[in-house]
Amino acid sequence: MVCLIRFTLLFCLCIMKMSALNFFPEKFEIAERHASITLTCRTDKDEITWRREDANTIENISQSEFEILSGRNLTVIDLQEDLTGNYTCWSDSGLEDYTYLLLDKSKETTAFNINCTAETFSCTEKIKCAWTINDFTDEFAFRLRNTRDNGDWVSQPVDGVFFLQHSTNSYSEESERMLIIGEAASTCCYMKTEQSFYLRDIIKPANPNISICTIKNEGSDNQIVELEVEPPSTWPQPHSFFPLKHQIEYEIRHDGKLKTKEWEEGSKFKVRGSITKLRGRCRDLLLLSQWSEWSEWKNVTDGGKGGRSKGQRKKPRNKKKNKINKKTKQRNKNKKQQHLN
Ligand SMILES: *[C@@H]1O[C@H](CO)[C@@H](O)[C@H](O)[C@H]1NC(C)=O
Ligand SMILES: *[C@@H]1O[C@H](CO)[C@@H](O)[C@H](O)[C@H]1NC(C)=O
Ligand SMILES: *[C@@H]1O[C@H](CO)[C@@H](O)[C@H](O)[C@H]1NC(C)=O
Ligand SMILES: *[C@@H]1O[C@H](CO)[C@@H](O)[C@H](O)[C@H]1NC(C)=O
Ligand SMILES: *[C@@H]1O[C@H](CO)[C@@H](O)[C@H](O)[C@H]1NC(C)=O
Ligand SMILES: *[C@@H]1O[C@H](CO)[C@@H](O)[C@H](O)[C@H]1NC(C)=O
Repeated sequence: MVCLIRFTLLFCLCIMKMSALNFFPEKFEIAERHASITLTCRTDKDEITWRREDANTIENISQSEFEILSGRNLTVIDLQEDLTGNYTCWSDSGLEDYTYLLLDKSKETTAFNINCTAETFSCTEKIKCAWTINDFTDEFAFRLRNTRDNGDWVSQPVDGVFFLQHSTNSYSEESERMLIIGEAASTCCYMKTEQSFYLRDIIKPANPNISICTIKNEGSDNQIVELEVEPPSTWPQPHSFFPLKHQIEYEIRHDGKLKTKEWEEGSKFKVRGSITKLRGRCRDLLLLSQWSEWSEWKNVTDGGKGGRSKGQRKKPRNKKKNKINKKTKQRNKNKKQQHLN
C-alpha cells in the first residue's frame, strides 16, 4: 500500500516536472493581458478540434465567451493566465498543428534584466550575458540574441551564462551599438527585454595571473615580495597598446587586515612588509573598464611555493630596452586615445 502511494506520488511528480516549461517553445504567440488573439491551425483539413494543455490539465475547447471557433481559427478573448498554454488542433487523422499561447508581461514588469560583459575587444571571444529576474516564482526558459550582428538565438546557458557571438572589429571605431534581445518564457508568461551598448562599455577583463618572483627578508618586517602580473590570456596584444591597471589586495601578517595597492602598466610590483597572502585583479587603463574578478589567493609563506624558484631563474631585464619600451608605450597610448575619441 505504502509502495503504491509512493509510486503514485513519484509518478505525479514526474508528470509535473515534464510539463514545466524548461525549454523555449519552438512555436508560440504572445498577447498582452485583456487582449484578443487569433490562432490559426495550419492544415488543409476542414474538420478540426482544439485542445489546450497547460501544466496541469488537458481541455477540449468548445465555443464559449472567451474562445471563439471559426473554421481553422480560434480566437481567444480577454487573455489572462488561465487561457495560456499549448493549443493543439486535431483532425480525424491526429495532431495537425500547435501553438503555445503566452501572456506578454513585458510591460507589467521591469524586473527582467540582462547583464553582459566582454573579456576583450576582439570578436574571437564571445560576450557573456547573464539574466536577472526578480519577484517571480515561476521557472523561466531564456534565450538571447545579438540582433546588430544578425546572431542566432542562444538558449543553452553554461552555468547560467549565455555566450553570444559578435563581429566587432577591434581595430576600427565601433559605430553602431550592439543590440541584445532577451526573451523569457514560463508556462504562462512571456517577457522581453533589450539592451544596447558598445562593446567598449562592457569590457571586463578575465583575471590576471599573479606570480611571486622573490621574497626577501622573509617573515621580517622588512619583507619585500616582488610580484609579476601576467595579463589574462584573452587580453588583446600587444599589451603595450592595451595597457591595464592593476590592483592587488594582501593580508598583513600581524593584524590580519587587508590592504590594497594599485599601479598602472608594468608587470612588476613590490610589496613591503610582512604579508601572508595576496590576490590581484585588473581593468583597462584607458577606458577604466570594470575590474576583472579577483585572482585566487596566493600564500606568501614557506619559501613561496611555485612561482619563487621560477622567478629567480629569470634574467634581470635590460634597462635600455625598458626605456625604449616606455616610449613605445606612450606613443601607442596616444594612438589608442585618438582612436577612441
Ligand atoms: C505543444 O504540443 C506539441 C504537440 O503535442 C508538442 O510537440 C510541443 O512540444 C508542445 N510544446 C510545449 C512547449 O509543450
Ligand atoms: C476530449 O476529446 C477527446 C476526443 O474527442 C476525448 O477522448 C476526451 O475524453 C475529451 N476530454 C475531455 C476532458 O472532455
Ligand atoms: C482566420 O484568421 C486569419 C488571420 O487572422 C484571417 O485572415 C482569416 O480570415 C480567418 N478565417 C476565418 C474563417 O475566420
Ligand atoms: C551587472 O553585473 C555587474 C557585475 O556583476 C554589476 O556590478 C552590475 O551592477 C550589473 N548590472 C546590472 C544592470 O544588473
Ligand atoms: C599562471 O601562471 C602559471 C605559471 O606561469 C601557469 O602555470 C598557469 O597556467 C597560469 N594560469 C593561468 C590561469 O593562466
Ligand atoms: C594557504 O594557507 C592556508 C592557511 O594558511 C591553507 O589552508 C591553504 O591550503 C594554503 N593554500 C595554498 C594554495 O597553499
